[in-house]
Amino acid sequence: MERFISMFSYKYFSIGKISKNFIKNSKILDVGCGDTAKVSIAMARLGSKNITLSDIGTNWMPNVKKNLKLYNINKNFWKLKSASVIKLPFKDEEFDFVICHGVLIHLSNVQHVKKAIKELCRVTKKKGAIYIAVGSEGGLVEKSLLPSIRSFYRKNKTFKKFIDNLTPNKIIDLFLTKKKYRHISFKNKFNLNKKILKKLFDEDFCVTVQNLIQVPKRLSIKEIFYIKEFKKHNIKENYRLARFVPQNNIRNIFSHLHYLCNAGNAGLIKVDKFSLDLINSIYGSGKQEYIFWK
Ligand SMILES: C[S@@+](CC[C@H](N)C(=O)[O-])C[C@H]1O[C@@H](n2cnc3c(N)ncnc32)[C@H](O)[C@@H]1O
Repeated sequence: MERFISMFSYKYFSIGKISKNFIKNSKILDVGCGDTAKVSIAMARLGSKNITLSDIGTNWMPNVKKNLKLYNINKNFWKLKSASVIKLPFKDEEFDFVICHGVLIHLSNVQHVKKAIKELCRVTKKKGAIYIAVGSEGGLVEKSLLPSIRSFYRKNKTFKKFIDNLTPNKIIDLFLTKKKYRHISFKNKFNLNKKILKKLFDEDFCVTVQNLIQVPKRLSIKEIFYIKEFKKHNIKENYRLARFVPQNNIRNIFSHLHYLCNAGNAGLIKVDKFSLDLINSIYGSGKQEYIFWK
């Protein structure tokens, strides 16, 4: 949770021309905030004093309230509202800054994404901004690897149970020979021990794996679609964001590749064509995160 919250910084938002003052003075809407409210908590840390958090139904509310309290977010700075992004119960141009992080890819189809984009634009003020994060499109991981693991997860009871109850200790057990099997006299060449394995596979790793595998389906849509759809609704400027995300576990090995992919495709850094093509074949478009200005 803490790692996720600290991923949001003024520097990151400045790529999309979002300033410190804009964040501090904006009336913010966090659509599909989830039951952790991580993004809203990050925005409050950056100085937001007026945040409306919304998601479908009401089940998410108790945990969100608990988390906002846990992170000492002033009670006067936020309110909760049950809402679907497809039909938002807010007035036209009610918010300065509308956030929709990791939500659109969970809608049932592209028509719903189009409706959602129309709604996000409708409730945003003129000269206001919209921030969306919609995951990556294409590439070996998104197109082939993850769908095949997800399909196996749904079919194989043992694997499903393992993933559903994944803990660092369960992964460590896989790698270290248990006492009862010692007669097989397995010795690993890299001298893997509990301490090293605990560093490689922590709680954060387990939650990430579960999030990636347990979702039934995720929409995977090209950059050009988002740009076109937003432009239909009076969007004047768009920026693609990217940031380097250091990881504390085995994912750290891939952090720089992710960054090259995301920032290279966003045009924020220069990556030679051969390397970018290769990285794109693995990660596709990279994580798509945009700021749209109305
Ligand atoms: C992966 S979570 C992201 C949560 C949060 N935005 C974050 O980044 O931590 C996806 C969220 O989208 C919400 N969601 C799915 N369909 C939605 C809809 N039609 N309207 C609003 N929220 C929706 C889910 O309830 C869930 O909380």
